[in-house]
Amino acid sequence: MSKFGKMNESSRESIAATSMKAIEDAGISPGEIDASFYSNAFGVTESQLHIGPLINSAIGIPDKPSLSVESACSSSSAALNEAYAHIAAGLEEICLVAGGEKLSHLGTMSATTYFAMGSDFRYEAANGVTFPGLYASMAVAHMKKFGTTQDMLASVAIKNHDNALKNPLAHLHKKLTREAYMESPVVAYPFHLYDCCPFSDGAAAVVVASEERARKIRDEVVDIAASERAGTTATLQDREDLTSIAGAALAGSRAYKAAHIGPEDIDVAEVHDCFTIAEIMATEDLRFFEKGEGGRAVQDGTTCIGGKLPVNPSGGLKAKGHPVSATGTAQIHELYEQLLGKAGDRQVEGAEIGLAHNVGATGGSCSVHILKRRR
Ligand SMILES: CC(C)(COP(=O)(O)OP(=O)(O)OC[C@H]1O[C@@H](n2cnc3c(N)ncnc32)[C@H](O)[C@@H]1OP(=O)(O)O)[C@@H](O)C(=O)NCCC(=O)NCCS
Repeated sequence: MSKFGKMNESSRESIAATSMKAIEDAGISPGEIDASFYSNAFGVTESQLHIGPLINSAIGIPDKPSLSVESACSSSSAALNEAYAHIAAGLEEICLVAGGEKLSHLGTMSATTYFAMGSDFRYEAANGVTFPGLYASMAVAHMKKFGTTQDMLASVAIKNHDNALKNPLAHLHKKLTREAYMESPVVAYPFHLYDCCPFSDGAAAVVVASEERARKIRDEVVDIAASERAGTTATLQDREDLTSIAGAALAGSRAYKAAHIGPEDIDVAEVHDCFTIAEIMATEDLRFFEKGEGGRAVQDGTTCIGGKLPVNPSGGLKAKGHPVSATGTAQIHELYEQLLGKAGDRQVEGAEIGLAHNVGATGGSCSVHILKRRR
């Protein structure tokens, strides 16, 4: 994973450099990669599409097949699912999955406009609603139905800013107090500035291999116990319930079944907290907590590092940052470090099973991966 924040290089340069780091860490040479899957959802803002052959050429494998995978904010977890399926089907033995984004050249207004194209443009964005507004609608529904409070939302932001202080690659290294949270400007009620993830640049890459090949390469590996995806009715106005993302709950259930475990077996989770309410909803959809209890769990410290179930020890999208197409693979990077005991000051002691939950837009596309430390 690259340092998230503001970068000088382009997406293609950052994805290529980060891919090389992952390849070196895996202990293979680029030529051993059979196929690559890349995500760069907003490449058009850098006047560059069809990024796969460019990155393959940059890392010295121009002859290998590449595929661009776009699934909004869940692009690179969807790419990982593609690589997993290719390997599980016996089509390839080693795949490279990488995603990256550069957004800092756009500014807030332009970035917000491009992002809104990931919603139902005709019914949502074209009528003026952008992602902070869409997730704010879900937050208001959650507050009304379950009594979730502004203080609970603040607790998510404060926890994730604290965690990011322990992550040298995080975008925002800023201690957040409850007072600073409350005094910050309102973006879309009930969200203040600190309820929102920032616009970040960055890249993250993962090398995936068949079990047999991985065993030959190195002892220190993490197993993918489940790689599942599901969808939700795309437009908010068509949903019966705004307090849950049905596709995330479904992908989670499928992942638990595939891994032969339940939510109670998860030691650490990276979830899609693009806005504070999204973390609360994720922890409920994944059945870590009863519906309506996610806010209380963060308030009472259950989800902090050292709590019963640490959530977003990396700082999450909220403070580690959210370079859209890098987010899915960056969650995997965090779990990889956690499960191998390499997470430094933010290490979750004894973590053996980790879950990554990545959502595209308001949940039209959802991915859940479960990773296990190999014993
Ligand atoms: C919240 C938001 C509107 C703030 O944008 P902005 O008001 O233009 O903020 P600026 O970029 O001018 O930054 C002003 C300051 O706030 C900080 N900042 C910006 N966004 C921040 C955020 N989300 N959280 C914490 N700090 C943030 C900047 O680092 C900067 O700090 P500095 O003055 O110390 O350098 C913008 O970050 C946003 O829209 N985020 C949501 C992105 C999104 O929708 N992603 C898709 C999710 S589905």
